[in-house]
Amino acid sequence: MENSHAQVMQDKQDSLWNSIRKDVAVQVEREPILASFLHATILNHTSMEAALSFHLANKLDSAVAPALLIREVIDEALQADPTIAAAARADLLAVDQRDSACHSLYEPFLFFKGFHALQAWRVAHWLWQQNRRSLALFVQHRISVVFGVDIHPAAHLGQGILLDHATGIVIGETAVVEDNVSIMQSVTLGGTGKESGDRHPKVRCGVLIGAGTKILGNIEIGRCSQIASGSVVLKSVPEKSLVAGVPAKVIGEASCDQPALSMNQCALSQVDQLG
Ligand SMILES: CC(C)(COP(=O)(O)OP(=O)(O)OC[C@H]1O[C@@H](n2cnc3c(N)ncnc32)[C@H](O)[C@@H]1OP(=O)(O)O)[C@@H](O)C(=O)NCCC(=O)NCCS
Repeated sequence: MENSHAQVMQDKQDSLWNSIRKDVAVQVEREPILASFLHATILNHTSMEAALSFHLANKLDSAVAPALLIREVIDEALQADPTIAAAARADLLAVDQRDSACHSLYEPFLFFKGFHALQAWRVAHWLWQQNRRSLALFVQHRISVVFGVDIHPAAHLGQGILLDHATGIVIGETAVVEDNVSIMQSVTLGGTGKESGDRHPKVRCGVLIGAGTKILGNIEIGRCSQIASGSVVLKSVPEKSLVAGVPAKVIGEASCDQPALSMNQCALSQVDQLG
């Protein structure tokens, strides 16, 4: 039973990678100027993992740690912990399903820096768990410089996560982001500056966090809640709530059962009711 489940999962994984390769082959015909780039990043690789380590390493390349060296670290992480690649696949599907600007799986894989930052963070997190803290912090630093996204390697993030646009996202050391959360640009999951130790937000499954929102302190954002853009959230939020304002208040119920999945931001128009 378990074996057949594993086989089904393997087939699904291959179909994701095959679908990326198929769409990229079409792009080679359509845009010959990108042919060598598309071959180097996708078509020359036999697995998503190999392509991911190649592409991320080139993004994170620096004089201190060139792409070849960084790729070895990424490969090591991917081989040691298969949940990293599984989470990458779930993240890719999340972008494809939730980002209306995404029309094919190859687009986030090659071009969306929220996806790149998240996968590079997964490597930094693995390094942190191995107690290789200086290298984890080095990777965090490169992610921050290259993608403008700053996620502490000790934070805990689930899978099926969308970092949309991603510029300016900051996630602190003791933050938790569970599965299937969608986070827009310029969101901070930070401390208030008044607490030490466990001082960052805990964001439960299925939450949608609007652009520019600041969630501060060791507070809980209940599952499937929706936070309006520009909110400053300082208190815990019950599940399935719609929250808005500075400081944020509950102004209603989330627009649907899974706001992060539907990316339904219509209910955010209720923010106007705040006056
Ligand atoms: C301002 C700050 C230091 C809190 O200061 P404080 O004087 O201890 O404030 P309190 O938590 O006691 O709240 C006092 C009131 O101000 C409000 N308030 C606190 N911070 C606020 C903010 N950033 N924006 C708007 N209102 C805020 C609270 O809601 C509260 O209102 P109430 O009395 O009507 O309930 C803190 O909230 C803050 O903003 N720190 C900066 C954190 C930051 O930038 N973190 C990012 C780290 S990456």
